[in-house]
Amino acid sequence: MDMPDSVSPNRLQQAFLQLREELQREIIGQPRLIDCLLVALLADGHLLVEGAPGLAKTTAVKALAARIEADFHRVQFTPDLLPADLTGTDVFRPQSGSFEFERGPLFHNIVLADEINRAPAKVQSALLEAMAERQITVGRSTWRLPELFLVMATQNPIEQEGTFALPEAQLDRFLMHVTIGYPDAEAELSILRLAREQARRTLHPSAPPPTLLKPAEVFAARDAVLAVHVAPALEEYLAQLVLASRDAGRYGPELKRWIAWGASPRATIALDRCARAQAWLAGRDYALPEDVHAIAHEVLRHRVLLSYEAEAEGVRSDQVVDRLLDLVPLP
Ligand SMILES: Nc1ncnc2c1ncn2[C@@H]1O[C@H](COP(=O)(O)OP(=O)(O)OP(=O)(O)O)[C@@H](O)[C@H]1O
Ligand SMILES: [Mg+2]
Repeated sequence: MDMPDSVSPNRLQQAFLQLREELQREIIGQPRLIDCLLVALLADGHLLVEGAPGLAKTTAVKALAARIEADFHRVQFTPDLLPADLTGTDVFRPQSGSFEFERGPLFHNIVLADEINRAPAKVQSALLEAMAERQITVGRSTWRLPELFLVMATQNPIEQEGTFALPEAQLDRFLMHVTIGYPDAEAELSILRLAREQARRTLHPSAPPPTLLKPAEVFAARDAVLAVHVAPALEEYLAQLVLASRDAGRYGPELKRWIAWGASPRATIALDRCARAQAWLAGRDYALPEDVHAIAHEVLRHRVLLSYEAEAEGVRSDQVVDRLLDLVPLP
């Protein structure tokens, strides 16, 4: 644990650090994915995860859900999915002669929206709207989603055929966009050994009960994260990072050429919330520029729209974020 000696983490922080350790034992060599899941949980936001098949995306959310007293649901997105398949719909009850709302799969605490780009735009919009508004309107009634509500949507970068790219303007609604890559040789071996051990455990079940975090503890942790101190100079830095993406010309011709549209105020708010959560997970009650740098790529990479020139030059949005971090002066 990389924690300064002067700070003794309180019980909640310890519970989260233990949760992180347990997840790291189960999901090997993907520390960013795990940290972003925890940051999203603490900052009350949603995640978009992009990665090839078989990189433990499903395993990771399931492992998280198993350790929180929360219910979990996975929705496979397909071309024939309808918005009502997510939200729920009014169903006629012959007994009472009236319509009753039947809740759809979004009414769960942790929702895995698998392969979100396989469903057409109207289904994606239904999900993104529910994520942002935390409620669902069907007919004349509005239904609130659970207070603990975390969506992790996955997107596979390989298959482009028969998929529907997420509308760029709506990507903003994801607090973070995580990209995960293949494990290295050492991790690959550990995965193999873990899978063997898990197969053995399935045959001879004796698993110790996983640590459970109660929703009330998650909310208390969110409170603590909101109380993390962000100095005015650091606030200014966050705002300048986002402003730089809109007024890139101030930072040289290259950035100006690369960025078609800069990030919205949602980006500034997201930087603040994620940096606080990152700081809290590091055992501090104040945020540092290093916390901002730790989460900047996941917060900004989907909010900066690249120009045609950038695409033609093969520039990736991560390079643009790197450049922003290089050019905007630190507080
Ligand atoms: N980093 C890892 N640590 C531990 N197990 C892993 C890791 N990567 C893959 N696995 C194992 O590989 C298998 C595939 O993982 P999983 O089903 O979670 O992948 P996925 O990313 O959801 O794939 P898909 O995109 O096809 O749905 C599982 O048995 C999982 O335990
Ligand atoms: Mg999966």
